[in-house]
Amino acid sequence: CAGQEPEAEDTRTPTDDNLIVVGVSQEGSESVWRTANTRSVKETLTKENGYFLIFKNARQKQENQIKALRSFISQRVDYIVFSPIVEDGWDTVLREAREAEIPVILMDRKINVKDESLYTAWVGSDFVEEGRNAGKWLEDYLKGQRFNDDQVNIVVLQGTAGTTAMFGRTQGFEEIAAKHENWNILEQTNADFTTAKGEEEMRRLLNTYPEIDVLVSQNDDMTFGALEAIQSAGRTTGTGGDITVISFDGTKKALEKVKTGAINVDVECNPYQGKYIEEIIQALETGQSIEKDNYVEEKVFTQKNVLSVLNDRTY
Ligand code: AHR
Repeated sequence: CAGQEPEAEDTRTPTDDNLIVVGVSQEGSESVWRTANTRSVKETLTKENGYFLIFKNARQKQENQIKALRSFISQRVDYIVFSPIVEDGWDTVLREAREAEIPVILMDRKINVKDESLYTAWVGSDFVEEGRNAGKWLEDYLKGQRFNDDQVNIVVLQGTAGTTAMFGRTQGFEEIAAKHENWNILEQTNADFTTAKGEEEMRRLLNTYPEIDVLVSQNDDMTFGALEAIQSAGRTTGTGGDITVISFDGTKKALEKVKTGAINVDVECNPYQGKYIEEIIQALETGQSIEKDNYVEEKVFTQKNVLSVLNDRTY
């Protein structure tokens, strides 16, 4: 899959007592975005910066992630950072972390726990706002079209079920769609944030609904697969094409396609969360107060502004 790269598991013990030991459990490597998110943490929590990082990749399985958290607890790390694969099912292991007095910082996605004090802080995106931004872009775009009141037939490729990104982007887009009687969401289907599933699901959607006007794809990897499917079906996308494409993440490859017009708009999801996590750890180390929720900065890219970021994009 496009986002995958070898990720070394590091379980050695620190040789320098002054290093802050951080156990990081990444939920997987399903997307280009995820690989950049991992890189951002690894590049920030370095020995030179005063950290000893123990990194584990859960490979899309919650049981692996719970196992990783338990191993961090038994190794008595100073902090646990994890990007939860899904929102539910964390109460027990987080109670174990609390008993061991290990602060837990959530990265990227949120969790659904009755007792919010089970984690110390969260760093990530405002996924609902991302979904709204996608809807608002479509609203504005359609205003400029000749037959603005015509039925607009929409299909949605959703990310992994049970994740904050999928819930938020769906909720935000649906909020805007509900204001437009002529927006018709034909189907929302799970394509797991991967290119292979994106292509497979898009093929099926094209066969089921010949009248698709808009594709909302909740990450760039699924969009790449969907574009293949659309092309093989003899349909065209983007500026001047017959299917309008809305994507999320803002990866370099996708922004290139915004530039050429194959993707109409890409709502950014910022993977560079390492520095935010480091700031939280430093604040905790020095006894300063911290915000519970920490939002990263994000933009929306169309042909109008994409050139301003394309050269510097590193993921
Ligand atoms: O949680 C963030 C989402 O997860 C990104 O949009 C996606 O690419 C990733 O896999």
